Amino acid sequence: MKITDFARRKREGRKISMITAYDYTFARIADASPVDCVLVGDSAAMVMHGHASTIAATPEMMAVHTAAVAKGAPSKFLVADMPFLSFRSGIPAAMDCVAGLMRAGAHAVKLEGVSGHEDIIAAIAGSDIPVMGHLGLTPQSVFKFGGYKVQGRGEAAAGSLLAQAKKLEELGCFAVVLECVPDTVARDITKAVSMPTIGIGAGPFTDGQVLVLQDALGLYDDMAPRFVKRYLDGRALAAQALREFDSEIKSGAFPAKEHSCA
Ligand code: KIV
Repeated sequence: MKITDFARRKREGRKISMITAYDYTFARIADASPVDCVLVGDSAAMVMHGHASTIAATPEMMAVHTAAVAKGAPSKFLVADMPFLSFRSGIPAAMDCVAGLMRAGAHAVKLEGVSGHEDIIAAIAGSDIPVMGHLGLTPQSVFKFGGYKVQGRGEAAAGSLLAQAKKLEELGCFAVVLECVPDTVARDITKAVSMPTIGIGAGPFTDGQVLVLQDALGLYDDMAPRFVKRYLDGRALAAQALREFDSEIKSGAFPAKEHSCA
């Protein structure tokens, strides 16, 4: 998938699939899959580094993960997240972060929210760098929301999200993630903008869907949002494999002759 395919997919009513990846090994698995595009999310801070929120992600952390994923998934359109405050410290700091992500192999950057950093979104998009927006439950604002709560409930909040989505489109975003908003709000935004909407916990009416890879594979269970669908019980499978490994070492069954270098 190329940048030009996003708007076309929406026009043609063909859904877009996106999955996160943070490392080379899983990026290769994503690369071999039919999934349309890969996001190096700042969820890396939680899923890969064990932090309690995405606030711990830094431009350096995101660039390292982006470089690993770019090597593993060379055939995929690669979006990299701009981490907490990286786009709130002025245009030069934001551009340094963008440069690090693009040099690491990203094809586009994603950033959360719109109010207060309209100039930065316009500056990035105006530099011919594709920008994906992210609205609704934007995890970098978790402390403002008072937790991981559904956003856009009620007429005023829904109207505000719709206005923000229109603003992002006006500023040059090519797509927007809608996270944890009521289905009807996601549907109205999807109808009102011509850029594709990619939902996560936003119901079936968006132009595409994204999930965190470790959630989809059942590998991460520190948090279990209702909207996650687990396509594999990865933790149980890995735990079983490690039990067998341990037991074979202790019984002497491993290594067998064929595992010897001699
Ligand atoms: O960081 C991330 O993984 C994300 C997705 C949940 C959309 O932003």
